[in-house]
Amino acid sequence: MNPQETAARRERAVTDKVLASFADTADPRLREVMLSLVRHLHAFARDVRLTEGEWETAIEFLTRAGHITDDRRQEFILLSDVLGLSMLTVAINEPKEPAATEATVFGPFYVDDAPEVPLGGDIARGAVGTPCYVSGQVRSVDGNPLGGAFLHVWGADDDGFYDVQYSADHSAGRGWLRTAPDGSYHFWTVLPTPYPIPHDGPVGDLLAATGRGPMRPAHLHFKVVAPEHHTLITHIFVAGDPHLDDDAVFGVKDSLVVEAAHHTAGQAPDGTRPEDAWAQMTFDLVLVPEPTS
Ligand code: BEZ
Ligand code: FE
Repeated sequence: MNPQETAARRERAVTDKVLASFADTADPRLREVMLSLVRHLHAFARDVRLTEGEWETAIEFLTRAGHITDDRRQEFILLSDVLGLSMLTVAINEPKEPAATEATVFGPFYVDDAPEVPLGGDIARGAVGTPCYVSGQVRSVDGNPLGGAFLHVWGADDDGFYDVQYSADHSAGRGWLRTAPDGSYHFWTVLPTPYPIPHDGPVGDLLAATGRGPMRPAHLHFKVVAPEHHTLITHIFVAGDPHLDDDAVFGVKDSLVVEAAHHTAGQAPDGTRPEDAWAQMTFDLVLVPEPTS
């Protein structure tokens, strides 16, 4: 046997031993996932001929990611996002039907206890930016309007920051409301602007080392919850944004890109007369019924 064959056999023996160690996993799904993970992870290490120094660098990287992660900063989700794993998982699972609104990445800035805002209210609640009137309808794929659906909305301010990035107890630029009986909704917020994902940690270093940028195109997040329907997690993106083609987390889908109309004055659809320039976006959200068991 030549030296290459000996090395290949030695490597194969490690992989086989590890696979065998998981072979008796009782939960069949866990068994499937772990066996596949080991196969692919070992194949990756063989493919790049991973050096011991590189292995140490990877461990240091993950250790730094752990140290920077807390209740408000989730570096592992960020890592999944920039590696495209978050969007691949969305692509594998969503949409449940082609006629439904496409889903995209959840991101780390959703908070559970955002305040309720009345239909037509202002979720900006002090967030700085150009006022933006957002409206549309929530309905099921069969066209039936979904009245009383919960619409959770969150977005960054004009400086590209979410409220929680200022301080843990600061709440602005987010809220939830319920759709009218005909499924319609409207609210005010601030016009989204592009912003960088947090890039002062190991994920930012990875982006810099690989010549990638941290920017996300302007967007507004939605989580739409309706009885007997699959929850939709999505964004609307602002058409014309320079970062639509280089979203750091690969979240853009053409069907989610919306024109923002710009108005200098005049009357908004809710009858108010904004004193300054304002914008308007319209987007319908189409949900898939949850299979009944
Ligand atoms: C966001 O859009 O809020 C976001 C998504 C992924 C990573 C960082 C931020
Ligand atoms: Fe965002």
